[in-house]
Amino acid sequence: MTSATAPQDRVFIFDTTLRDGEQSPGATMTHEEKLEIAGLLDEMGVDIIEAGFPIASEGDFAAVSEISKRAKTSTICGLARANFKDIDRCWEAVKHARSPRIHTFIGTSPLHRAIPNLDMDQMAERIHDTVTHARNLCDNVQWSPMDATRTEHDYLCRVVEIAIKAGATTINIPDTVGYTAPRESAALIRMLLERVPGADEIIFATHCHNDLGMATANSLAAVEAGARQIECTINGLGERAGNTALEEVVMALRVRNDIMPYRTAIDTTKIMNLSRRVASVSGFQVQFNKAIVGKNAFLHESGIHQDGVLKNVETFEIMRPEDIGLVQKNIAMGKHSGRAALRAKLKELGVELADNQLNDVFVRFKALADRKKEVYDEDLVALVADEQTNDAHEFLQLKKLRVICGTEGPQEADMVMSIDGVDHSIDATGDGPVDAAFNCVKMLFPHSARLEVYQVHAVTEGTDAQATVSVRLQEDGRIVTGASADTDTIVASTRAYINALNKLIVRRQKTAPGTDTKTVSYHGK
Ligand code: KIV
Ligand code: ZN
Repeated sequence: MTSATAPQDRVFIFDTTLRDGEQSPGATMTHEEKLEIAGLLDEMGVDIIEAGFPIASEGDFAAVSEISKRAKTSTICGLARANFKDIDRCWEAVKHARSPRIHTFIGTSPLHRAIPNLDMDQMAERIHDTVTHARNLCDNVQWSPMDATRTEHDYLCRVVEIAIKAGATTINIPDTVGYTAPRESAALIRMLLERVPGADEIIFATHCHNDLGMATANSLAAVEAGARQIECTINGLGERAGNTALEEVVMALRVRNDIMPYRTAIDTTKIMNLSRRVASVSGFQVQFNKAIVGKNAFLHESGIHQDGVLKNVETFEIMRPEDIGLVQKNIAMGKHSGRAALRAKLKELGVELADNQLNDVFVRFKALADRKKEVYDEDLVALVADEQTNDAHEFLQLKKLRVICGTEGPQEADMVMSIDGVDHSIDATGDGPVDAAFNCVKMLFPHSARLEVYQVHAVTEGTDAQATVSVRLQEDGRIVTGASADTDTIVASTRAYINALNKLIVRRQKTAPGTDTKTVSYHGK
């Protein structure tokens, strides 16, 4: 099979939400959340899931191992630096997969070569030895020259050839700092295909970061030049400005298939659900005007646009909402809707729940329907996300909360919180009702975690809208996020705060201070 000539119409999708995406400060996911996201990626038809960086922490190792065991169709890949210890650890985690892959990398640009202090020859030897080692363990090996787009062309050709000869089956060309532009991205792939012996025997991948907002364009340009694997993340999650967004490249290839005749195996109707789940578990909300999955992506506000869309939807829409799993309202939900209607509605929204989960969601749906005139799709999505995030058997649980707020401060909160099954009451004042409620939590459960992010989003319009709240806490280098949704913003905020604390407690138990963070770092950080 050759990258340049076959199969011309098929582009492999390599998702790195759980590795490069999760590496984004604050996007840390729990073990269960990683398994859930991996399951959804597998079902959506992602060809390769980069599940983590096994040597980085015990948590990463456990997640990659478990994802490998559970994967149904996707190839499962783990990341390893260019040394035998990393590669062995990676193999230990991915070897359980039906189709495992080791991804090993080293920074090849002058700036990155200076970090391990290797000269060109020493680095070339290291590449030969480590790729050979990986290939002796696994017959599917990907190699990346990190910062490829700032590596001297002659040296890049030399090391790519060495990696191919040592047995790499995929060569990934990372634009690590989001520096390249479409024309250059394409030229680089073309040059490698022309100059490197054996280049037509392997797959070239493109891995772009979005620092200049060109990641999607750069990835597509690389494909036009002969790359046949795109590395990307859901919602473009990733360090700094993020990675290429999966939904953007996949939908671009689909909508503009006339000029980009390449096929992926992605079931695009699953995009919206995955986007929502990744936003919820990572705590990184999607910007309203984000391409494909933003809240406004299919909304038409201006009179001219609305008029046009009503007459012929194609006047202002280049794809249908249902193509990405955004369904038109077929079933209206209200307080008289039963369990079967709820199940059908959730299915429409791309959410399938086990019977016990459905029962719990149904109870909460009924309570919500009593409080709200109409329960919108967005309300159900928020409710399901909250149910999946906040477990009723957690160590800390909010039992009761009352606040007194208004123009005359200080605001007061009165709370009952259960700690390991025992109820405790307290009251506190604060600078606003959220501060007062958080002070109650801190007094009942003293801790030194710092609140780094506190975000509130209204799920729908109207004053009876639910609020989704996400918070990010930091303690001794451990970063956790928490989320919750409720029609009462103060309740949602307090639950999100408690949710993050529960995650922190689990992290503290699993690791000594500092060891659960990504102590193994690169990108010069
Ligand atoms: O951006 C990058 O260079 C990476 C490599 C590890 C592939 O993520
Ligand atoms: Zn990257």
